[in-house]
Amino acid sequence: MGSIKLKTMPIKSLNKVSLRPAVDLDMKLLFLWVNTPENLASKIETSTPIVWADHIKWFKLCLESDHCAIWIAEKRNHALGQVRVERHKDGDLHIDIYVDSPHRVLGIGTEILNLAKENVKQLWPGEPLVARVKKNNTSSLKLFQKCGFKFISEISDYIVFVMRD
Ligand SMILES: CC(C)(COP(=O)(O)OP(=O)(O)OC[C@H]1O[C@@H](n2cnc3c(N)ncnc32)[C@H](O)[C@@H]1OP(=O)(O)O)[C@@H](O)C(=O)NCCC(=O)NCCS
Repeated sequence: MGSIKLKTMPIKSLNKVSLRPAVDLDMKLLFLWVNTPENLASKIETSTPIVWADHIKWFKLCLESDHCAIWIAEKRNHALGQVRVERHKDGDLHIDIYVDSPHRVLGIGTEILNLAKENVKQLWPGEPLVARVKKNNTSSLKLFQKCGFKFISEISDYIVFVMRD
């Protein structure tokens, strides 16, 4: 499935946010974003900063894998955030989203999550998409519910949501 990983760049309208597949050159930007305190605080399995060598290994594997997709959200060629979908060890597709802090609460998270849902339908038709959100992450809880994700369960300090086709 890697070869059809929505590799073509989308046609952009200047004022719209678009998603494009991540490329090698995004490695550093994604490293900076993943290690921001608020992003680390939102993680379920990783709470300590990720080291560069691990990030390189993980990022390269992800770009080559049929079980991972990373998209960069852009407007006027300016990177605003990212969406990542990765097959978790439980076999399900898990989604992660990040909007860079100056661009938050402007509806960009909503826009890019909806775009990513369409990409996921094409890449992995019929597969449910799982989001695990910490109970104290108000913006993310609102975001996933607003975009149609349904509550499934509450486990320790996080809530599991699922989106089905
Ligand atoms: C979660 C995140 C992606 C939301 O991005 P965003 O661009 O701010 O989202 P939107 O502007 O589309 O807002 C979505 C909803 O959340 C609400 N919201 C956003 N930030 C909020 C905040 N700080 N407090 C309360 N509500 C908030 C918005 O008002 C909107 O709800 P509404 O339509 O009912 O008004 C962003 O805050 C982020 O990157 N956080 C750090 C990483 C993270 O937590 N990722 C999620 C991992 S599960």
